[in-house]
Formats: sequence, structure tokens, C-alpha cells
Amino acid sequence: AAAEKGGHEFFMLKEIEEQPAGVADTLIGHYADGQVVLDEQRWSDQELREIDKVFVVACGSSYHAGLLAKYAIEHWTRIPVEVELASEFRYRDPVLDRSTLVVAISQSGETADTLEAVRHAKDQKARVLAICNTNGAQIPREADAVLYTRTGPEIGVASTKAFLAQITANYLVGLALAQARGVKYPDEVAAEFNHLELMPKLVAKVLESAPQVRAIAREFAHQSTVLFLGRHVGYPVALEGALKLKELAYIHAEGFASGELKHGPIALIEEGVPVIVVMPSPKGRAVLHSKLLSNIREVQARGARTIVIAEEGDDTVRPFADHLIEIPAAPTLYQPLLSTVPLQIFAAEVAMQRGYDIDKPRNLAKSVTVE
Ligand code: G6P
Repeated sequence: AAAEKGGHEFFMLKEIEEQPAGVADTLIGHYADGQVVLDEQRWSDQELREIDKVFVVACGSSYHAGLLAKYAIEHWTRIPVEVELASEFRYRDPVLDRSTLVVAISQSGETADTLEAVRHAKDQKARVLAICNTNGAQIPREADAVLYTRTGPEIGVASTKAFLAQITANYLVGLALAQARGVKYPDEVAAEFNHLELMPKLVAKVLESAPQVRAIAREFAHQSTVLFLGRHVGYPVALEGALKLKELAYIHAEGFASGELKHGPIALIEEGVPVIVVMPSPKGRAVLHSKLLSNIREVQARGARTIVIAEEGDDTVRPFADHLIEIPAAPTLYQPLLSTVPLQIFAAEVAMQRGYDIDKPRNLAKSVTVE
């Protein structure tokens, strides 16, 4: 068993380290002759051009990957995207037809709610694309088309490497749609694909900061509440960071859109509460960066202890960061592939400090095959 875990105490720790490879392998074969190709799907460009609405349905971490898909797909394609928990989707009677693309994201491909969402979408004549990490699972079998994440089997119950691979796959879908619709020039698609290809190296760089992240986590291991703040693509990252901490360490953890701080969460801030902030790149939209800075200042002034994840060289955050975790620079849409990683390491270390089995958190199952 130790060999299977590659010398690690837990599968999850091994899977966190496999993330650069998972992203790289998910990209293999998807760019050829100046075009993004979703080779496992059977739709023509003509069919992709007919799509006028996208729904992303998923559960758990896969849902958070789906939230990120919305930022990229809408930005690149100008097609409206809705992201929905699979368990809510079909009971709501969503508006679906032939020109709707439903993207079902599932690591296992067996999650009951996501499978039922796929069936509902097909009943309504929508086209269904599965993004899945498990060859031949039920969801890809029932979908019209499949894009496989290729990160190898994920054993740890809490998703890590599948999450990064799902973000990667979502972005491929966005680029393929943009290209088919002609809203992005081939050189623009090439530039985006190039960014994706650079990510494995940058993820590997983030992994080098693991000892620092673990040291911070040890300091916070006995907290009863941890809050996470992010904005734009940092918001789903905050949700994912909080979910990891809940799942693994059984700590009350909540992620918030930082713009909502004044609408409630700030009432939770008292002396000593840890707040983890995912800072946007200062080279992206400056206005978002400055808004996050004032959010950190607001929580710090009320006694919060801040752990800030920021792009390296972003010295503006230093005065407000009790702890600063630096990640390499990346364009805004790609930052989640980096900023999520310290949050995974943080949650795993807190849980291990508390003596928990991070591969098999209590009450949770790797795939939830009942509704
Ligand atoms: C369970 C797992 C999560 C996973 C979720 C969705 O809750 O513990 O890690 O994100 O199911 O699973 P799926 O296989 O559909 O991605």
C-alpha cells in the first residue's frame, strides 16, 4: 500500500502532487493543425455553432469547477452559461432544447444526481457533453459526447487532481466553442491553449511552497471557524477551499464572494478569526484588486488573522497579510489552477494535525450513487 501511495502517507497527498501531470495529460491531443479539438466528441462545428445556451451541472468540487467554466466560456464565446447543482437542476424544470448544451462534470461518472440531470437534459432534447475522469462510467455512457480528464484514478475521497483537470477540460470546451463560432481568431485560441500548456510548470512551482503552507496550517489547526474570501474566479476557489476544510478537518468553513462581505459575513469577524483571501492578479482588472485589498483591511481592522494568497511581487498586500502565500503570475482565468493548490495543502495539513484520515473523511463517500 505504501508503494501505491508513492511513499506518501495518504493517497490525497500523492494526488495533490500529481496535479501538474493531470493538467498536462488532459491537454494531450487537444490541439492540432492550429485548432483545439475535442476528439472524443462527435459534434461538427456546424452543431457547435447552433448552441445558444450552456448549462453546467455537477456536485461537490465538480460543481466548483463548473462555476469557473462560466467565467471562461461566457468571456470567450459570448454564449450565456448557467451553472447548477445537479440535485437542483431537474426539479426546477429548466428551459432546455436542441440548441442547449448541457455539460455534466463528474470525476467518477457515477454520481446519481448528475446522472439524473443528464437523463433529464436528454429527455428535453438538449445535447449533453460529459467531462469525466473514469472511462466507460455511466454518465459518459449516457451522454452524447465525452471529454475525458486524464489524471488517473482518484482514490482520496476529497477531490484534488480531478478538480484541476476539470477546470482544464472546461477551458478546452470554451475554446472549442469560441473557435467554431468564429468569435476568437486562431491566433487567440493558440495563445489561450499556450497558457494552458504553461500551467503544469506553474502548478509544480506552487507545490514547492507546500512546507510553508503546512507551517501556516499547523498554526491554525485548532480553530473552530475559517472564512474564505474571493472575487471573480477567486470566488469559486474560496468555495472549494472551504469545502476541502469542511470535508477533511471537520471545521466550520465558509467561502464568500468578497463583495458580499458587508452584506453579512463581516458580522462573523471577531478577534482571532482566520480569514483566507484569494487575491486577484494585480495585472488583471486593477479595480478588483483594490476592492479585495480594502476587504482585507476591513477584516483585519476587526481583529481577523489574514492568510493571503497573492501573485508573487504583489507587495501591496503585505501590510494586510499576517501570512502571505505567493503563487506565480498567470492571466486571471488561469489563476484558479494555482490558487486552489495551497488551499488543498492547508486543509490536508489541518486535518492531519487533528489526527484524521484524509483519504477517508467521516460520513463521506467517493461517489454518491444514491440521490
Ligand atoms: C463526493 C466526493 C467529492 C466530489 C463529489 C462529486 O462528494 O467526495 O470529492 O466532488 O462527490 O463527485 P463526482 O464524481 O460526480 O465528481
